[in-house]
Amino acid sequence: MTIEVFDTADDVARAVAARVADALAARPSLVLGLPTGRTPIATYAELRRLHGAGRADFSRASTFNLDEFAGVAASHPGSFRTFMNTHLFESVNVAPDRIHFLNGTAPDLDAECARFEAEIGDAGGLDLQILGIGGNGHIGFNEPGEELVAATHRVTLADSTRRDNAALFGGNPAQVPREALSMGMGTILKAATILLIATGERKAHCIERTVRGPVTTRLPASFLQLHPRAEFYLDRAAASRLRT
Ligand code: F6R
Repeated sequence: MTIEVFDTADDVARAVAARVADALAARPSLVLGLPTGRTPIATYAELRRLHGAGRADFSRASTFNLDEFAGVAASHPGSFRTFMNTHLFESVNVAPDRIHFLNGTAPDLDAECARFEAEIGDAGGLDLQILGIGGNGHIGFNEPGEELVAATHRVTLADSTRRDNAALFGGNPAQVPREALSMGMGTILKAATILLIATGERKAHCIERTVRGPVTTRLPASFLQLHPRAEFYLDRAAASRLRT
C-alpha cells in the first residue's frame, strides 16, 4: 500500500477528488465504488466543484455504493441513497441508470445481494473503489469478527456502528436498523485500485493497526495490506500513530 499524509482533511479531500477526476479523464467509462459516512463528504464537495469547473465528467461513468441499511427505502431521509443524492449524484452528470445501489427493501435480501454482486461483474468489475474506515476497522459494513463473508451479503450491525450512524436516524441509535447489506471484503479487494480516506484523531489507532498490525478478521481493514494497489490518503491526525 502507499500512504500519503496531508496537513488537513480538506487537503485530503482535494487530493482524492483530483485523483478521481484524473481517473475519469483517463477512462471516461470508469466503474467507481463509493462510500458514505462523514469522511467522504468533503471529497464529494470537491468533486462537485471540479464537475462545475468542467474538470470531472461522470457522463459515461458507473457507480456502485458499498452498502445500504436493510428495511430502509431509497427515499428514506436516513438511507445511504439519499446521502449520495444529496452529496454527489444530484450535482454531477452521472447517468441515473448507471447508479447502482443495494435495495434495502427488496423482498429477498439474499437474492438482492447476489443481484448486486452480479451487476458489478456485468460492469466489468470495479476500477476504483473509494473507502472510509470505521473506528473499529470495519470496511463497508464488514464488521470485525471470527470470519468475513467474501461476497455481497447481509450483515448484523455492531452496536458501535449503530451509534456511529445515529445522526441519519434522528440521533437515536435505537432507530438505526440492526441489519444492513454490504459488499464483502472479497468484492472490495477485487477492485483494480482502492483509495482509502481517513481523517481525524479518532481514526489514528485503527489506521496504525491497519497498516502495521497482522491481517485479521478482527480488523477487516487489515486485508487491504494484501491488495496490490491500495492508496491511503490520511491527514496528520489520522496518521499520528504511524510516526516513529
Ligand atoms: C459507509 C461505509 C463505512 C464508513 C465508516 C466510516 O458506506 O463504508 O464503512 O466508511 O463507517 O464512517 P465515517 O466516515 O462517518 O467515520
